[in-house]
Amino acid sequence: MTTILNGKELAKELRNEIKLEVAALLEQGHRPPHLAAILVGTDGASMTYVNSKERDCEFVGFKSTVLRLDESETEEGLIDKIEAINNDPDIDGLIVQLPLPSHINSDRITDTISPDIDVDGFHTISVGKLAKGMDTYVSATPFGIIKLLESYKVDTSGKHCVVIGRSNIVGRPMSILMSANSYPGNSTVTICHSRTSNLKEICKSADIIIAALGKPEFVSADMVKEGATVIDVGITRVPADNEKGYRLAGDVDFDAVKDKAEFITPVPGGVGPMTRYGLLYNTLKSYKIKAGIK
Ligand code: GUN
Repeated sequence: MTTILNGKELAKELRNEIKLEVAALLEQGHRPPHLAAILVGTDGASMTYVNSKERDCEFVGFKSTVLRLDESETEEGLIDKIEAINNDPDIDGLIVQLPLPSHINSDRITDTISPDIDVDGFHTISVGKLAKGMDTYVSATPFGIIKLLESYKVDTSGKHCVVIGRSNIVGRPMSILMSANSYPGNSTVTICHSRTSNLKEICKSADIIIAALGKPEFVSADMVKEGATVIDVGITRVPADNEKGYRLAGDVDFDAVKDKAEFITPVPGGVGPMTRYGLLYNTLKSYKIKAGIK
């Protein structure tokens, strides 16, 4: 029997918990948590993500501020804006939507955000703390996946977890979390990437596959062991004959793989909503630290 890991439903429940918590805080006379986002340029997917983050904030009762900057924004100009936000006591979380235009150095930008409000967990200090097993802001997608595995009580201890993709946003932090001495975690982790020569064989030996490479339907049924857990992080826009002109495709051939898997995430409705929850969670966490609330 295959269990679909319903991220949409779980995220809804968890979002409602945050909403209730915020309502109680306001009732006690506290200010609302405040998330700031910076978007540079007009990339379609990035605009959609930032819009949904704004909507999520509104839903749970957070204040949100979005700075929409022109594609031609300079690195120095962006740094000045980030520093102003770092110094704003009213703001609990700041994210700069990636990818940035190629004339801007993303590492310099993510390291300009104060680690205290780095709710994306992309700062070098946040990543270093994660690697050392210290408390920090865990980036939203890996955080959401961990919550999903935990909620469905997926057994991860001693399991072989294959992470496909080595990005700083998903693959790398995911590999750290899955190998951590914790639950979910305690897995034996292999990271595969574009230079991995025997990827199919490695995947075949996986108890857990986390596909985060951004190639539509890359993981086929012959790469998956019977009874495996399959987590699909992909959300690529592929051309489609519909109103939008595209559909969202995962990195896993869901229809072919679903009957082999014990647990599998759908796309959409799996990892995506959990990622959105992760950002709300981190913003509330920062707010509570600032306000000294347990
Ligand atoms: N681009 C893709 N995913 C993310 C994310 O989680 N945060 C930011 N800032 N940019 C992204």
